[in-house]
Amino acid sequence: MKKFFLFFFVLGSLSVAAQTASDTKMNTFISTLMKKMTLDEKIGQLNLVTPGGAVTGSVVSKDVESKIENGQVGGLFGITGPEKIRQAQELAVKNSRLNIPLFFGLDVIHGHKTVMPIPLGLSCSWDLELIEKSARIAAEEATADGLNWAFSPMVDIARDPRWGRIAEGSGEDPYLGSQIAKAMVRGYQGTDISKDNTLIACVKHYALYGAAEGGRDYNTVDMSKVRMYNEYLPPYKAAIEAGVGSIMSSFNVIDGIPASGNKWLLTELLRNQWGFKGLVVSDYTSINEMMNHGLGDLQAVSALSLNAGMDMDMVGEGFLTTLKKSLQQGKVTLQQIETACRRILEAKYRLGLFEDPYRYCNEERAKSVIMSDANRKAAREVAAKSFVLLKNNNQTLPLKKSGTIAVVGPLADSRRNMLGTWSVSGDFDKAVTVLEGIKSAAGPDTKILFAKGANLTNDANLAKHTNVFGMEAPMDGRSPEDMIKEAVDAAAQSDVVVAVVGEAADMTGEASSMANIDLQESQKELLKALVKTGKPIVMVLYNGRPMTLKWESDNMAAILDVWFGGTEGGNAVGDVLFGKYSPSGKLTTSFPYSVGQIPVYHSMLNTGRPYNHEEFAKFKSNYLDIPNEPLYPFGFGLSYTSYSYSDVTLSGTSLKMGQSITASVKVTNTGARDGVETVQLYIRDVVGSISRPMKELKGFKKVALKAGESQTVTFTISSNDLKFYNNALKFVNEPGDYKIFIGGNSVDVKEASFVLGK
Ligand code: BGC
Repeated sequence: MKKFFLFFFVLGSLSVAAQTASDTKMNTFISTLMKKMTLDEKIGQLNLVTPGGAVTGSVVSKDVESKIENGQVGGLFGITGPEKIRQAQELAVKNSRLNIPLFFGLDVIHGHKTVMPIPLGLSCSWDLELIEKSARIAAEEATADGLNWAFSPMVDIARDPRWGRIAEGSGEDPYLGSQIAKAMVRGYQGTDISKDNTLIACVKHYALYGAAEGGRDYNTVDMSKVRMYNEYLPPYKAAIEAGVGSIMSSFNVIDGIPASGNKWLLTELLRNQWGFKGLVVSDYTSINEMMNHGLGDLQAVSALSLNAGMDMDMVGEGFLTTLKKSLQQGKVTLQQIETACRRILEAKYRLGLFEDPYRYCNEERAKSVIMSDANRKAAREVAAKSFVLLKNNNQTLPLKKSGTIAVVGPLADSRRNMLGTWSVSGDFDKAVTVLEGIKSAAGPDTKILFAKGANLTNDANLAKHTNVFGMEAPMDGRSPEDMIKEAVDAAAQSDVVVAVVGEAADMTGEASSMANIDLQESQKELLKALVKTGKPIVMVLYNGRPMTLKWESDNMAAILDVWFGGTEGGNAVGDVLFGKYSPSGKLTTSFPYSVGQIPVYHSMLNTGRPYNHEEFAKFKSNYLDIPNEPLYPFGFGLSYTSYSYSDVTLSGTSLKMGQSITASVKVTNTGARDGVETVQLYIRDVVGSISRPMKELKGFKKVALKAGESQTVTFTISSNDLKFYNNALKFVNEPGDYKIFIGGNSVDVKEASFVLGK
């Protein structure tokens, strides 16, 4: 036994030694290189430019080619393809004085060319292996396409569905968000960043971007440190612990100072407390935007940013054009410039770019890897596992492969909308529509009728704002009445109606906030007319955010939330509707009852005057007109089967510091079909030095259960899992009473109690 440990000890020491030796080699290489670099060349490395393409701001970099040759560019983003990237790399490696290779970055957000479900949908799989695999496939394709840096994962906790970027993250919960952050980083970076199929991930947007006031993009964030540390910061920290190579700062202010110039955030917390060693890049012109925040002119904000700990300036060129002057005037130091430059060179070295700058420019690999059959097959599975079944009356679903089905709705045959927001490399022409997916899954014995039935919206202004990147919300030449009539006629001839409704792809994502998160009137009118036919209606919902669905939940026979499933989304919808997969997704954001309820989330604090959902009482924390609870809670999702949970069995009634306790439940598949259930564990710290959430997610397990099968699911809870940041921001355990809840969502749970002793 001892020998065994000795073996691992020696192995461990050897790998540490190997690491140190390779770091020494890297440091020597970079020091030698930096000795040759002029000040301008050092500043040049801090410049990240885009020659166009996927642009999210008004500025596009100019004279990119000559800047590369002059050593004024450290990296490029927004171009893809091994050939183009080889050409750009040649400019740096052959024509610049010191031949320093460039980075090539891109927003590889949910897949690259084979587009996966939008991140919010992906998170609803609660399947970390699957999530890692989706990032792995994205990295395989992106690196085959010449890239070595992905601006992902986006881990901003978001509790306001008005905010369009809620689509890009993993929802409202810090624990789940942290697990997903780690899985994504593992998927992108693998275990060896120097391989030709791994790239540097970039966790963003550091920090708190999801808490923008009013859900308006880029808006003010103002929150207590206690909330920050306990609820919003954990996913960024988790990504760092998983070894993420880079971090992107956010647009918002924190304690009044924009993130891109916030020294507390970029140095004190990130470097000094968390020990982050990688590189920090600004968001798109976020350094320059500090001028609008009222922090000075371009020179002042650029100096502020470098002083705060920024390494690389995305697009704004404030570093490139002002840092030299700031150095001469003593506003920044040479050491600061050199530190930033070194971090960028280190990342390039780790990628192996100095060894082979064309490592990611292999046309043959691009041909075999990008959009391969295997990747599309995987995307189909990932999509199916991201869908959440919100309602299923009288087992309307799965559908039978016989009779007549009316497929209606503006999204049923809308290839343009299938990929969802932020799929810059995706080709929507290669996406499968829902109509196609249904036709191929339904088989020859089912008659399918199709009618569009409604425009996505009849609001010309909204359509115009949605169509900035292309015709996602076209206005049909026919009148709304004619379109509805066609759909109603189709419904009248059918046994069941599948209504594919929801949002256009770019009604969520960056700068796509919405004050009204109902289904658009045009589509509601269609649904109302369909309801009158008396036919059961299956609503297939495309959405990048939680929506307010009270009327729909009262009137539809079934609701399947499919987010935006990506390239293979349409096929996945077919697979799920006809029962090839039983839905297993669970919500990662609460669906509000009404927009006035926002924010509503499962881990709220109690009030001094708690609301009683059974009976209204004056002078309690409630609304006069609606309940406090969301319409669909966090963790919720049905399947084609049903599950029952036994009471919770604990291994003891108390645990001491440093110990653990186990909690078990027997979960039984009580239905007639096989299924996969996500068993969720929540805790409540009953008495604390600060008010603690009524429920906090602390674990989850996915179990596959055959019809009639039972399985005991056990969670181990250690005293470490019960730690939180107290009022002094110390991460502590506090002895006392705890509650434990286990169930299939955050509301329907079995409860037990234990005591944490000293
Ligand atoms: C977004 C980032 C993105 C960057 C580069 C910005 O506007 O906020 O998420 O990575 O553009 O495209």
